[in-house]
Amino acid sequence: MRIFAFAASLRSASLNQKLIQLASRLAAQFGAEIDLARFHEFDMPLYDGDEDLAHGLPEGARRLKQRIEGAAALMIAVPEYNYSIPGTLKNAIDWVSRARPMPWRGRAVYLLSTAPSPVGGIRGLWQTRIPLEGCGAIVFPDMFALPHGNTAFDERGMLREAASFERLVREVRGFVRFAEAVEPLCCSPPPEADAKRRAQEIAAALEDESELQPGTAQT
Ligand SMILES: Cc1cc2nc3c(=O)[nH]c(=O)nc-3n(C[C@H](O)[C@H](O)[C@H](O)COP(=O)(O)O)c2cc1C
Repeated sequence: MRIFAFAASLRSASLNQKLIQLASRLAAQFGAEIDLARFHEFDMPLYDGDEDLAHGLPEGARRLKQRIEGAAALMIAVPEYNYSIPGTLKNAIDWVSRARPMPWRGRAVYLLSTAPSPVGGIRGLWQTRIPLEGCGAIVFPDMFALPHGNTAFDERGMLREAASFERLVREVRGFVRFAEAVEPLCCSPPPEADAKRRAQEIAAALEDESELQPGTAQT
Protein backbone atom coordinates (compact mmCIF):
# COMPACT_ATOMS: atom_id res chain seq x y z
CA MET A 1 0.00 0.00 0.00
CA ARG A 2 1.43 3.34 -1.09
CA ILE A 3 1.41 6.42 1.18
CA PHE A 4 2.13 9.91 -0.12
CA ALA A 5 3.74 12.03 2.62
CA PHE A 6 4.75 15.67 2.94
CA ALA A 7 5.12 18.46 5.48
CA ALA A 8 3.10 21.59 4.69
CA SER A 9 6.07 23.90 5.38
CA LEU A 10 8.29 25.67 2.87
CA ARG A 11 11.04 26.29 5.43
CA SER A 12 14.34 24.52 4.70
CA ALA A 13 14.80 23.88 8.46
CA SER A 14 11.20 22.75 8.96
CA LEU A 15 10.49 20.81 12.16
CA ASN A 16 7.46 19.28 10.50
CA GLN A 17 9.69 17.96 7.71
CA LYS A 18 11.73 16.15 10.38
CA LEU A 19 8.54 14.71 11.83
CA ILE A 20 7.22 13.47 8.48
CA GLN A 21 10.60 11.89 7.69
CA LEU A 22 10.46 9.96 10.95
CA ALA A 23 6.82 8.93 10.46
CA SER A 24 7.66 7.83 6.90
CA ARG A 25 10.52 5.61 8.10
CA LEU A 26 8.17 3.99 10.61
CA ALA A 27 5.39 3.48 8.06
CA ALA A 28 7.92 1.80 5.74
CA GLN A 29 8.85 -0.54 8.59
CA PHE A 30 5.17 -1.48 8.86
CA GLY A 31 5.10 -2.43 5.19
CA ALA A 32 3.96 0.76 3.42
CA GLU A 33 5.63 2.05 0.27
CA ILE A 34 6.40 5.75 0.85
CA ASP A 35 6.41 8.65 -1.61
CA LEU A 36 7.93 11.52 0.41
CA ALA A 37 7.78 15.03 -1.12
CA ARG A 38 8.86 18.56 -0.25
CA PHE A 39 6.01 21.08 -0.24
CA HIS A 40 8.02 23.34 -2.60
CA GLU A 41 7.42 20.78 -5.37
CA PHE A 42 3.82 22.04 -5.45
CA ASP A 43 4.27 25.81 -5.42
CA MET A 44 1.10 27.38 -6.85
CA PRO A 45 -0.66 30.74 -7.04
CA LEU A 46 -3.56 31.76 -4.80
CA TYR A 47 -6.86 30.23 -5.87
CA ASP A 48 -8.57 32.41 -8.47
CA GLY A 49 -11.92 31.31 -9.88
CA ASP A 50 -11.29 33.16 -13.16
CA GLU A 51 -7.97 31.36 -13.66
CA ASP A 52 -9.66 28.06 -12.76
CA LEU A 53 -12.37 28.68 -15.37
CA ALA A 54 -9.91 29.78 -18.04
CA HIS A 55 -7.03 27.33 -17.51
CA GLY A 56 -7.99 24.80 -14.83
CA LEU A 57 -5.45 23.72 -12.23
CA PRO A 58 -2.03 25.46 -12.30
CA GLU A 59 1.08 23.32 -12.72
CA GLY A 60 1.87 22.92 -8.98
CA ALA A 61 -1.68 21.87 -8.13
CA ARG A 62 -1.69 19.39 -11.02
CA ARG A 63 1.54 17.86 -9.71
CA LEU A 64 0.04 17.59 -6.23
CA LYS A 65 -3.14 16.00 -7.60
CA GLN A 66 -1.10 13.40 -9.49
CA ARG A 67 0.93 12.48 -6.41
CA ILE A 68 -2.28 12.12 -4.35
CA GLU A 69 -3.83 9.94 -7.04
CA GLY A 70 -0.71 7.77 -7.09
CA ALA A 71 -1.24 6.70 -3.48
CA ALA A 72 -3.99 5.09 -1.43
CA ALA A 73 -3.30 7.18 1.66
CA LEU A 74 -1.54 10.34 2.86
CA MET A 75 0.42 11.46 5.90
CA ILE A 76 0.69 15.25 6.28
CA ALA A 77 2.70 17.10 8.93
CA VAL A 78 1.07 20.50 9.36
CA PRO A 79 2.56 23.56 11.12
CA GLU A 80 0.09 25.48 13.27
CA TYR A 81 -0.29 29.09 12.15
CA ASN A 82 -2.27 31.35 14.45
CA TYR A 83 -4.11 28.39 15.98
CA SER A 84 -5.12 27.17 12.53
CA ILE A 85 -4.17 25.58 9.18
CA PRO A 86 -1.39 27.36 7.21
CA GLY A 87 -2.88 29.35 4.31
CA THR A 88 -0.50 27.61 1.91
CA LEU A 89 -1.98 24.18 2.69
CA LYS A 90 -5.59 25.41 2.63
CA ASN A 91 -4.92 26.99 -0.77
CA ALA A 92 -3.47 23.71 -2.06
CA ILE A 93 -6.46 21.73 -0.76
CA ASP A 94 -8.81 24.21 -2.46
CA TRP A 95 -7.08 24.02 -5.86
CA VAL A 96 -6.88 20.21 -5.81
CA SER A 97 -10.55 20.02 -4.78
CA ARG A 98 -11.47 21.50 -8.18
CA ALA A 99 -10.27 18.37 -10.01
CA ARG A 100 -12.71 15.63 -10.98
CA PRO A 101 -12.95 12.96 -9.87
CA MET A 102 -12.22 14.52 -6.47
CA PRO A 103 -8.68 13.33 -5.60
CA TRP A 104 -9.13 13.44 -1.81
CA ARG A 105 -12.27 11.28 -1.79
CA GLY A 106 -11.91 7.94 -0.01
CA ARG A 107 -8.22 8.38 0.80
CA ALA A 108 -7.08 7.78 4.36
CA VAL A 109 -5.15 10.70 5.87
CA TYR A 110 -3.02 10.79 9.01
CA LEU A 111 -2.31 14.26 10.42
CA LEU A 112 0.75 15.18 12.48
CA SER A 113 2.16 18.44 13.74
CA THR A 114 5.02 19.82 15.73
CA ALA A 115 5.79 23.29 17.05
CA PRO A 116 8.10 24.77 19.66
CA SER A 117 5.01 25.39 21.81
CA PRO A 118 3.86 23.06 24.63
CA VAL A 119 0.78 21.97 22.65
CA GLY A 120 2.63 20.98 19.48
CA GLY A 121 0.15 22.27 16.91
CA ILE A 122 -2.95 20.25 17.90
CA ARG A 123 -5.28 23.26 17.41
CA GLY A 124 -4.20 23.58 13.79
CA LEU A 125 -4.80 19.87 13.19
CA TRP A 126 -8.43 20.18 14.25
CA GLN A 127 -8.81 22.98 11.71
CA THR A 128 -7.07 20.90 9.04
CA ARG A 129 -9.53 18.02 9.42
CA ILE A 130 -12.43 20.23 8.31
CA PRO A 131 -11.55 20.92 4.63
CA LEU A 132 -10.08 17.43 4.18
CA GLU A 133 -13.22 15.74 5.50
CA GLY A 134 -15.30 18.18 3.47
CA CYS A 135 -13.46 16.89 0.39
CA GLY A 136 -14.26 13.29 1.31
CA ALA A 137 -10.93 12.21 2.84
CA ILE A 138 -11.11 9.60 5.61
CA VAL A 139 -9.10 11.34 8.33
CA PHE A 140 -7.67 8.93 10.93
CA PRO A 141 -9.13 9.69 14.39
CA ASP A 142 -5.74 9.85 16.14
CA MET A 143 -3.57 12.89 15.40
CA PHE A 144 0.04 13.23 16.54
CA ALA A 145 1.01 16.62 18.01
CA LEU A 146 4.61 16.81 19.24
CA PRO A 147 5.31 19.60 21.75
CA HIS A 148 8.67 21.41 22.01
CA GLY A 149 9.59 20.37 18.47
CA ASN A 150 12.69 22.58 18.53
CA THR A 151 14.32 20.32 21.15
CA ALA A 152 12.42 17.04 20.63
CA PHE A 153 14.68 15.55 17.90
CA ASP A 154 18.20 14.23 18.33
CA GLU A 155 20.90 14.56 15.66
CA ARG A 156 19.69 11.35 13.91
CA GLY A 157 16.15 12.72 13.63
CA MET A 158 14.80 10.41 16.34
CA LEU A 159 12.64 11.57 19.24
CA ARG A 160 14.54 11.99 22.50
CA GLU A 161 11.55 11.16 24.66
CA ALA A 162 10.67 7.45 24.73
CA ALA A 163 6.98 7.96 25.57
CA SER A 164 6.46 10.27 22.57
CA PHE A 165 8.29 7.87 20.27
CA GLU A 166 6.22 4.90 21.47
CA ARG A 167 3.01 6.86 20.87
CA LEU A 168 4.16 7.75 17.35
CA VAL A 169 5.04 4.12 16.60
CA ARG A 170 1.63 2.95 17.85
CA GLU A 171 -0.26 5.57 15.85
CA VAL A 172 1.68 5.01 12.61
CA ARG A 173 1.18 1.24 12.91
CA GLY A 174 -2.54 1.82 13.50
CA PHE A 175 -2.77 4.19 10.55
CA VAL A 176 -1.06 1.76 8.14
CA ARG A 177 -3.53 -0.98 9.18
CA PHE A 178 -6.45 1.44 8.85
CA ALA A 179 -5.30 2.71 5.45
CA GLU A 180 -4.95 -0.86 4.16
CA ALA A 181 -8.47 -1.61 5.35
CA VAL A 182 -10.07 1.44 3.71
CA GLU A 183 -7.96 1.33 0.51
CA PRO A 184 -10.83 -0.08 -1.60
CA LEU A 185 -12.85 3.11 -0.95
CA CYS A 186 -10.54 5.14 -3.16
CA CYS A 187 -8.61 2.74 -5.27
CA SER A 188 -10.38 -0.50 -6.14
CA PRO A 189 -13.96 -1.58 -5.41
CA PRO A 190 -14.00 -4.56 -3.03
CA PRO A 191 -15.47 -7.79 -4.35
CA GLU A 192 -18.92 -8.35 -2.85
CA ALA A 193 -17.65 -11.25 -0.71
CA ASP A 194 -14.92 -9.06 0.83
CA ALA A 195 -17.19 -6.21 1.89
CA LYS A 196 -18.23 -7.68 5.28
CA ARG A 197 -14.68 -8.73 6.17
CA ARG A 198 -13.40 -5.26 5.23
CA ALA A 199 -16.00 -3.59 7.44
CA GLN A 200 -14.87 -5.75 10.35
CA GLU A 201 -11.21 -4.92 9.68
CA ILE A 202 -11.92 -1.18 9.66
CA ALA A 203 -13.81 -1.41 12.95
CA ALA A 204 -11.03 -3.51 14.48
CA ALA A 205 -8.28 -1.15 13.31
CA LEU A 206 -10.08 1.79 14.88
CA GLU A 207 -10.92 -0.09 18.07
CA ASP A 208 -7.46 -1.56 18.63
CA GLU A 209 -5.37 1.47 17.85
CA SER A 210 -7.31 4.51 19.00
CA GLU A 211 -6.29 6.08 22.30
CA LEU A 212 -9.69 7.72 22.67
CA GLN A 213 -10.58 5.77 25.78
CA PRO A 214 -8.60 3.39 28.01
CA GLY A 215 -9.34 -0.30 27.53
CA THR A 216 -11.91 -1.87 29.83
CA ALA A 217 -9.11 -3.70 31.69
CA GLN A 218 -7.74 -0.34 32.89
CA THR A 219 -11.04 1.25 33.95
C1 LIG B 1 2.55 33.06 10.85
C2 LIG B 1 2.94 32.13 11.96
C3 LIG B 1 2.01 31.78 12.90
C4 LIG B 1 2.33 30.90 13.92
N1 LIG B 1 1.37 30.51 14.81
C5 LIG B 1 1.64 29.54 15.71
C6 LIG B 1 0.61 29.02 16.54
O1 LIG B 1 -0.53 29.42 16.49
N2 LIG B 1 0.93 28.02 17.41
C7 LIG B 1 2.19 27.52 17.50
O2 LIG B 1 2.42 26.61 18.27
N3 LIG B 1 3.20 28.00 16.72
C8 LIG B 1 2.94 28.99 15.83
N4 LIG B 1 3.94 29.46 15.01
C9 LIG B 1 5.30 28.94 15.17
C10 LIG B 1 5.47 27.66 14.36
O3 LIG B 1 4.89 26.59 15.05
C11 LIG B 1 6.94 27.38 14.15
O4 LIG B 1 7.50 28.43 13.39
C12 LIG B 1 7.17 26.04 13.50
O5 LIG B 1 8.53 25.74 13.56
C13 LIG B 1 6.66 26.05 12.06
O6 LIG B 1 6.76 24.77 11.50
P1 LIG B 1 8.00 24.35 10.57
O7 LIG B 1 9.22 24.33 11.47
O8 LIG B 1 7.66 22.98 10.10
O9 LIG B 1 8.14 25.35 9.47
C14 LIG B 1 3.64 30.37 14.00
C15 LIG B 1 4.59 30.74 13.04
C16 LIG B 1 4.25 31.60 12.03
C17 LIG B 1 5.27 31.96 10.99
